[in-house]
Amino acid sequence: MKYAFVTGGSRGIGKAICIKLSQAGLPVIINYKSNRDAALETKQAIEQLGGKAELMQFDVADKTQIEKSIEEWEESHPEDYIGVLVNNAGIRDDNVMFMMGDEQWQKVLDTTLNGFFYITRKILKHMMPRKRGGRIINISSLSGVKGLPGQANYSAAKAALIGATKALAQEVAPRGVTVNAVAPGFIETDMTKGLPEEELKMQIPAGRFGKVEEVADLVAFLASENAGYITGEVININGGLYT
Ligand code: NAI
Repeated sequence: MKYAFVTGGSRGIGKAICIKLSQAGLPVIINYKSNRDAALETKQAIEQLGGKAELMQFDVADKTQIEKSIEEWEESHPEDYIGVLVNNAGIRDDNVMFMMGDEQWQKVLDTTLNGFFYITRKILKHMMPRKRGGRIINISSLSGVKGLPGQANYSAAKAALIGATKALAQEVAPRGVTVNAVAPGFIETDMTKGLPEEELKMQIPAGRFGKVEEVADLVAFLASENAGYITGEVININGGLYT
């Protein structure tokens, strides 16, 4: 059976992606770092809609945990394979550059960029020999495309993710694996709570923040069989804020 794997699937955009991929007929592996209750809620939401989901706990910045967890999954699922990977987990820790601490810089890069590398490398080793193609979708950001002040760490990590997406897309295209990045603008989640929404909305041509379901719909399309000829792309989803 073909599975989808979503990092940081317990809430926000990741949760919506888990639900949407499940509705598209895929059993989903929901990765979470520490909030098991929230991950269980995502699992229950999927099951209530008739889907199938499993939890997998690890910190995306921890290579050892990732490799061990995926190997255990492979051992317990000899007939199954992961055909869709969504690298969604991410954090922000904003500060102007001259005040930014080493840890603020490192933590954001470790989660977004190193996390992407450790997981994708491991899943590719799993995906490639199966010769069934695959889909890798990396959640970047407007911040990685345009750069946003106060986010040099986050913009750097998300821009690097775009570079890696384009390089990897060319490496694995002959194997039928597509690799794309999705770059959301302002989406209503915990991550954007506390931002001056009314002020920001005035700069967005669509006049509102995006919804998690809108991002999930785009990801589900990129994950589908119909998207087999789209690869190495960065798809902006930002209400016209920056194109
Ligand atoms: P969120 O903060 O609600 O969710 C982030 C998820 O990542 C959480 O489930 C969290 O537990 C998980 N996570 C964080 N660090 C982790 C780690 N080390 N290991 C495993 N999981 C970890 O935020 P949201 O908005 O749902 O963000 C999802 C993705 O979308 C992130 O990559 C974010 O950078 C990106 N994004 C969000 C935008 C927004 O406006 N909300 C805009 C552009 C990009």
